[in-house]
Amino acid sequence: MTELDHAVALLREGELVAIPTETVYGLAADAANPAAVAKIFALKGRPSDHPLIVHIAGTAQLDDWATNIPADARRLADAFWPGPLTLILKRQPHVPDAVTGGQDTVGLRAPAHPLAHALLEQFGGGLAAPSANRFGHVSPTTAQHVRDEFGDACPLVLDGGASPVGVESTIVSLVDDTPKLLRPGGVPREAIEAVLGRKLEHHQSNKTAKIRASGLLDSHYAPRTPLILGPLPSLLDEAARRLAAGERVLLLHRSAIGTPTSGIAHQQLAPDAAHFARELYALLRRHDRQHDVLLMEAPPQSPEWLAVNDRLKRAATTRLD
Ligand code: TXA
Ligand code: MG
Repeated sequence: MTELDHAVALLREGELVAIPTETVYGLAADAANPAAVAKIFALKGRPSDHPLIVHIAGTAQLDDWATNIPADARRLADAFWPGPLTLILKRQPHVPDAVTGGQDTVGLRAPAHPLAHALLEQFGGGLAAPSANRFGHVSPTTAQHVRDEFGDACPLVLDGGASPVGVESTIVSLVDDTPKLLRPGGVPREAIEAVLGRKLEHHQSNKTAKIRASGLLDSHYAPRTPLILGPLPSLLDEAARRLAAGERVLLLHRSAIGTPTSGIAHQQLAPDAAHFARELYALLRRHDRQHDVLLMEAPPQSPEWLAVNDRLKRAATTRLD
């Protein structure tokens, strides 16, 4: 029996399998089996009214899960699937409440990772899968991150290497007349707008949004070591002050800083958004609880940094000017 056969057998028995995707690792269960889906919530410690994304092999399965599908949704699926785009649509009546959080909508995505895709093809159905981390933790981008989260409590972790995108999928709701960006992610907002031929409304926070999405909780992606974001000059001042007070400080910067004379521990991060995103969650995990504080140079506010800035805003405890 191959590992893929094993994964399919476990899923058919109602067990959980952690799967690699191009964005982050997911904790998957048979989306048609409410008892299996309940195990996801139990293991993650996630509130049961937070809906899960149903992963499918491709556009051919759209109608199995969604109804009243607008032409825009098919256009987006054709353009970006398999890939890091989740579409929120009216659900088919049979989709379990355990998956949708009792809402009349369902989130659907066809992941591009070859192992996830092969698993979905062989499994045949849909896989409900949130990011494979305990509720409120940083999302995992390697199989080892998942093992660190759950240990033996997850029966199987499929190892597909490091997730190449590194931040979660872009979520677009097509339930109303106006398409809405619920979470920036792996597919750039501008690419979606180009396909739709119109602008996406962006929901910045769950404080005003009626739609529940745990990625919208303000402090969702938080590492446990305080993270301070800001421009480099302010961070250098802050680092010197904290160092003098005896704190263990790590400065994470993208710009060149030469060798700080003050002896501040520092690490250079990837200069471009794609590499930065790929490394971000592993970086936050690696340095979490190793220092008293992380000081990170804030990336620019330009479009290619939208998803990274969104996650950093939620992860940061403070932002300096
Ligand atoms: O890249 C990703 O999307 C990863 C991989 C594993 O596919 N998954 C992921 O799942 O990030 P999760 O559960 O950590 O985040 C999914 C987000 C949540 O904020 C959830 O509330 C929202 O999608 N969501 C799911 N179904 C929804 C629905 N019907 N309406 C509104 N938001 C929904
Ligand atoms: Mg998550």
